[in-house]
Amino acid sequence: MSSVAAAWKRLPWWVEPMSVVFVLTAFGLYSATIVLLYPGDSEQFPQYLSPFYSPPIGRPDWLPGFVTAPLFVLWIPLGFRATCYYYRKAYYRAFFWDPPACSGKAQQLDRPWAESTESYRGERALFVLNNIHRYFLYASFVVVAFLWYDAVLTFFPEGGFGVKVGSLIWVFNVTLVSAYTFSCHSLRHLVGGRVDCFSCVRGGNVRRKAYNGISRLNAKHPQWAWVSLFSLLLTDVYFRLISAGVIPDLTIIG
Ligand code: FES
Repeated sequence: MSSVAAAWKRLPWWVEPMSVVFVLTAFGLYSATIVLLYPGDSEQFPQYLSPFYSPPIGRPDWLPGFVTAPLFVLWIPLGFRATCYYYRKAYYRAFFWDPPACSGKAQQLDRPWAESTESYRGERALFVLNNIHRYFLYASFVVVAFLWYDAVLTFFPEGGFGVKVGSLIWVFNVTLVSAYTFSCHSLRHLVGGRVDCFSCVRGGNVRRKAYNGISRLNAKHPQWAWVSLFSLLLTDVYFRLISAGVIPDLTIIG
């Protein structure tokens, strides 16, 4: 174990959930700000569309001004992350103390505030809305497909083929977002988690292979959640800097 990981483990238990909540909230505020206050920026990127504006869709004129076009898409990635099992664990602990931690009976003796598995009553009341996570997953497939489509377009800026650093950043970002999406616990369950016997169901061999692949991705789901979140932010900032002429977009082939 690296010294950084060892030092992280020595921190108080609440540091991790609070960090997750802080970063997730900052991400939500950043994305809401740019799509609410700067929706017109989507037309100022000559070659690249910021991932926050993809896919570009029209907006009926009769809508009130505060309803911007990117909002029609943003609810999907935000809802997907807000209902993600990994993020949920953090904000339940940090905001609601429900539970602050889990504990077996023996450990409860010195951690009386921890919730035992016997007293856990599932997700009720308002939290039952989290069960719509799988529908956010379906919608996210559409968004990811458009992100890949936009990634391909960056290699054909004016009809001809070319490779720039920005295109590679686009592909790298979509790869991370895809890894996060396809490592989802709900997807793993849908593909094979509820199957007791793969050889007994139609397409069992394919499902077993898909399940094994998703399980390998799923083992690193928290890491995919973090790196894809930061890559979205950095990609957006990078394209804004190019668009503003602050940095050049270096050409590799073209
Ligand atoms: S569980 Fe995290 S995205 Fe589905």
